Parts: sequence; structure tokens; C-alpha cells
Amino acid sequence: MIRFADFSRIVFFTGAGLSVESGIPTYRGKGGLWEEYDYESCACQRAFDADPERVWAFHDVRRGFVANCEPNEGHRIIAHVVQASPSVHSVKVITQNIDGLHQRAGSSGVVELHGSLWRVRCDLCGRCKENLEAPIGDRRCACGAWRRPDIVWFEDLLDPAVLQEAADAIAACDLLVSVGTSGAVSPAADLPRIAVARGAMCVEINPEETPVSGLYQHHLRGPATKMLRELSAS
Ligand code: APR
Repeated sequence: MIRFADFSRIVFFTGAGLSVESGIPTYRGKGGLWEEYDYESCACQRAFDADPERVWAFHDVRRGFVANCEPNEGHRIIAHVVQASPSVHSVKVITQNIDGLHQRAGSSGVVELHGSLWRVRCDLCGRCKENLEAPIGDRRCACGAWRRPDIVWFEDLLDPAVLQEAADAIAACDLLVSVGTSGAVSPAADLPRIAVARGAMCVEINPEETPVSGLYQHHLRGPATKMLRELSAS
């Protein structure tokens, strides 16, 4: 039986499945966001260049929706592993989620691989700042150009410094727990391979098998909260 308490440096690698129990739909699969919306018209730079108002309207709806959702027990377990298990020296959360629920549950130093719904960035001068409004009030930067969500959209590149921070944390962990990700989007989906190569214990939490399940030594097939509760049992 795997328990957090038997490890000292833990990385949580999380995806949309972790926020399902907060009421936020995943991206793929039944009821997924990309079943209802076409990313080419609302989640890529090309769409933003062609019609920024339409892309902002899509993100304003998401902001309003997520603002009304709460972190769930899974987010809270992850945020409190160090307090709950004194033998655990460090926990790093590396997420593909943009919803900010890890931080609202109390996690700090979260690596947001795909950016945040709650930051805006000037499309011209690059100035970036937190913005919690839903809908967002001022869609223009002080320089006059459009602000865009500071999210890694389709066809965008990940920030190399963010990717490096994630890779370094994964290289140093002795337990990697993947929670609620389909492993369908690279380069994020390739990061757990670093833990495998370093000999860390790798656990996948997901009710379903994924294309990357073969990487993991252990599979916990069930909802994130229930499976995280089992790992946190002392
Ligand atoms: N607990 C755990 N996992 C769950 C749960 C649950 N309660 N419900 C669903 N899942 C799993 C699904 O089986 C699926 O494998 O969550 C996964 C969600 O997969 P995706 O929707 O592809 O989400 P994610 O892997 O985070 O997507 C990666 O794609 O377009 C994007 O940029 C977006 O960051 C996102 C990236």
C-alpha cells in the first residue's frame, strides 16, 4: 500500500479531473469543454487576433463559472500533506489547471504550466497582472493594446522557465502522483517521464486508463478525492 508518509519529496502533477468534484468540467471526454466549444474560435492566438471580444466573452463566462466553484477535498489534502505527514519534507504542485483552486485550497508555489484564468497579459508590451474580475472590466492595457488571458492557448509555447521549474521539481521527487489528467497534451504530458527515469515511485489517479498509464507503477482507479484520501491515510 502506498502512503504519502513513506516518502519525503512529493510532486503532484494535476489536471482537469481533480477539479471535476468542484463542478468544473474536464476538457476531453463526455461533457468536456472541447466537445461544446471549438478551440479554434475561442482558445488560440489566431482567434484572439481575429476577434478579441469574442475570445474575451468566452473567458468571461469561464471566469464567472469558476469563481462560483470551491476547492474540493482533493485540493485540500494536497495542500496539507506536509502538516499531516511530518516525514514528508516537501510538496510541489505542478498543475495544468488554470482555475486557481490549488491556491484557494492553501497550496503555495504552485507551478501553473498552462497559465492562469486569473492573470491578464498585455498582448503588446507583455505586462502581466492578477485580475479577479468576472467579467473583466478593462480589456485594454495602459499602453492601449489588448490584454489577453495569461493562459497557454493551443499553439502557444509554454514559458521555458515554468517548464524548467517543473522539470527540476520532478527530477528531485521520490513520489510523483498524477491526478486527473488524460496525458494528451505535450510537453506537459511528458514531464512525468523524468520521474520514471530517476526511479521515483509514480502513481496515477484516474477513473480511466490513459495513453500514458503504462508509465506508472501504480494505478488508483477512482475519483481524485477518494484516492487521495487513501494515500493520506496513516
Ligand atoms: N478524478 C480524477 N480524474 C478524473 C475525474 C475524477 N473525478 N473525472 C475525470 N477524470 C479524468 C478523466 O478520465 C481524464 O483522463 O480527468 C482527465 C481529464 O482529462 P482532460 O480533459 O484532457 O484534462 P487535462 O489532462 O488536464 O488536459 C490537459 O488540455 O486543452 C487542455 O490546456 C488544457 O490543461 C489542459 C490540457
